[in-house]
Amino acid sequence: MEHQLKYTMTPVAVKTVKTKYRRIVTKLPVPESLPIFRKLLRYEPISMQGQPPILWDRAKGCQVYDRWGNMWLDWSSCVVLANAGHGRPEIARAVQRMAAKPLLATYVFAHEARAALCEALAKLAPRGLDKVFLLTTGSEAIENVIKLARTHGVATGGPDKCVIVSFEGAFHGRTLGAQVAGGIPALKSWIVKLPEGFVQVPFPDGFRTADTRFAVFEETLERLGVKPGQVAGVISETFQGIGPNFFPAEYAQALEAWCRRHGALLIMDEVQAGFGRTGKMFAFQHYGITPDLIACGKGISSSLPLAAVIGRADVMSAYAPGSMTSTHSASPLAVAAARENLRILKAERLVARAARLERPLRAALEGIGRKYPERVGAVFCRGLVAGLLMVRPGTKDPDGDTALAINEKCFQKGLLMFAPVGLGGGCVKIAPPLTIETEALAEGCAVLEEACAEVIKK
Ligand SMILES: Cc1ncc(COP(=O)(O)O)c(C=O)c1O
Repeated sequence: MEHQLKYTMTPVAVKTVKTKYRRIVTKLPVPESLPIFRKLLRYEPISMQGQPPILWDRAKGCQVYDRWGNMWLDWSSCVVLANAGHGRPEIARAVQRMAAKPLLATYVFAHEARAALCEALAKLAPRGLDKVFLLTTGSEAIENVIKLARTHGVATGGPDKCVIVSFEGAFHGRTLGAQVAGGIPALKSWIVKLPEGFVQVPFPDGFRTADTRFAVFEETLERLGVKPGQVAGVISETFQGIGPNFFPAEYAQALEAWCRRHGALLIMDEVQAGFGRTGKMFAFQHYGITPDLIACGKGISSSLPLAAVIGRADVMSAYAPGSMTSTHSASPLAVAAARENLRILKAERLVARAARLERPLRAALEGIGRKYPERVGAVFCRGLVAGLLMVRPGTKDPDGDTALAINEKCFQKGLLMFAPVGLGGGCVKIAPPLTIETEALAEGCAVLEEACAEVIKK
């Protein structure tokens, strides 16, 4: 199958930029970087080429550097990962100390830092969620919450209690179970014969789904022929990454009550939302609900590959010694990184900082929205995650071309975001490290506004 690259790979002369936070001094993409991109294209699947063509040399704080003198202000956080900022020297030193011991791998043989991290995560989570299973990727955490929920359902309600309900538009990762539970049809067309026991209901975003009453959840299950007693678990991202879209709190509370009434587990995918991104440690805290299982990843370490399932002891204890493990569970280096990351989030009060910075970010984005009411369909912002949903003039149809053009223009001006996301790629998504200086945030907003003006006026 032929695929096109999203971004221009022919070097373009762009305006020189020299500010405290951004420096662009070459053509973009950098001509000298092209042989390396060609090598990647030669030896990797093209699927790996979806992001703006910067050859990362180093990343520190809120800046990403190449080796030709360019420096981008980063609004991607490495796709919502570097909550504590890039390349934290404290994290690097913690990893170096573990490497110097040396303790590089243990499989699931015990090590002390693993015990400390499990304890720390259990203490961060709501009371009652006191078991922690450390894994490597977010998708792996999702596979495990699905497995645990179905195991629990069947054990408590018999073989029919195995249905997993998820939401339209959901993204839970790229492995089989995660994609079956996902709610973006184009991403799972490859599965062809979808396994039974997975259904999706509309997400109450108030935009594509105008009716945000909880009754829609129950009506949809009835229409799909799923009885409440058959549901093992309901899983959702705490906010849908494609928006970012949040639940109305009343809906989330009604969902929690429904789960309790019918013995279904409430599962929150916090892979993107967790560890302060939305101005709360976990985003479900905005809704005043307590899930039974939480899937975590990304911001848990701000760096090395680590993920976790945090959950109720009775649910998490379903498997006998040695029968729910993974080779790189609690890899010592990643665990060292995560422990230091948690220390930094607390010491620097980064969760509160994300909450505080919501105001200026929201105000700037709403200002852009007011300037282009025909083209910006919606503005979403909570803490330090936000999105401008670009639409075709006067409709609710996502405009992926315009979102991509804005994103590419920002890249050329020294502001880095990841490729537009969402149904049709219409969302310009914003997720800076939680350490971003107020002044840098304001500069980024001004660059985005400039890029919108240049793209939209065409
Ligand atoms: C909400 C959500 N869940 C799960 C995943 C999968 O995580 P990973 O890419 O670490 O497998 C992602 C990744 O972007 C995500 O955003």
